[in-house]
Amino acid sequence: MQILETVADAVSSRAAASSPVVLVPTMGALHRGHTALIEAAKKRAGSQGTIVVSIFVNPSQFGPHEDFSRYPRPLHEDLTICRELGVHAVFAPTVEAMYAADDSTVIEEQQVASGLCGQWRPGHFRGVCTVVAKLFQILRPDVAIFGEKDYQQLAVIRRMVRDLFFSVEILGHPTVREADGLALSSRNRYLTDEERRAAVHFPAALQATRELVAAGEIRAEALVARTREAIERETGGVVQYVELVDAESLVPLKILDRPAVLAAAVMMGKTRLIDNVRLEPIHADI
Ligand code: PAJ
Repeated sequence: MQILETVADAVSSRAAASSPVVLVPTMGALHRGHTALIEAAKKRAGSQGTIVVSIFVNPSQFGPHEDFSRYPRPLHEDLTICRELGVHAVFAPTVEAMYAADDSTVIEEQQVASGLCGQWRPGHFRGVCTVVAKLFQILRPDVAIFGEKDYQQLAVIRRMVRDLFFSVEILGHPTVREADGLALSSRNRYLTDEERRAAVHFPAALQATRELVAAGEIRAEALVARTREAIERETGGVVQYVELVDAESLVPLKILDRPAVLAAAVMMGKTRLIDNVRLEPIHADI
């Protein structure tokens, strides 16, 4: 497995790589959510292709009071995991390699990024788009895989790729969960035992809303209110947002009349958790 630390090394490795090149961008601290993406990359790459994982804790997507400095960086373990999975190359640059001291260019998607997490993390998706665009330029992947756990991130990147004519195919991968339903996240390790026990009610509340839909409720206001109330009551956390949005544009819906996503963020103490479920409209048979 190649370990690439400089942009120049990554560019020359890319030039020699066999197609398709399938990229899994990560910030490391790899867990089963990430490894599922790598397995999907392996499948997509087939026997001829090249699997590339990037590991880079991107400073520009963290707010000033967020966890950039304490974000876990177990690089050695991450490299072992990648090696065991048959990854061909890991791109793990330094901050200085990715951002010149006088770096002054950003990529900003201005619609899909504006609601949901965008309201609570100003500048976050600008940082994500900027670094993902840099990774695409350096590694020129044919395919890049992102998780649906960060549903808005996936939607923002799809829009950026469409708008800027990046020639990369974006694949989404379903959320990988713990046995009790909690979505895997590098940030789960920040939860106290008590918060971790309560956190199970977060995905459960989102799932329960599906049953309301199955029972015929299609008004967004009712679905959102019920979900918000259930999350707060059952997790003891503080809800940042619950919204029902169009699955592609992420525009808020009033009525569940098209493929949608119910997305939410909750603060469990100091730890911010996000999750989402897809909701499909029920088509009454005539
Ligand atoms: P990170 O949080 O490390 O996540 C890397 C990829 O793994 C993302 O596409 C994310 O959606 C996916 N992922 C994380 N947890 C998952 C889970 N439980 N199930 C399925 N997929 C999961 O997301 C980022 O890094 C960064 O913003 C990045 C895109 C690398 C840009 O810096």
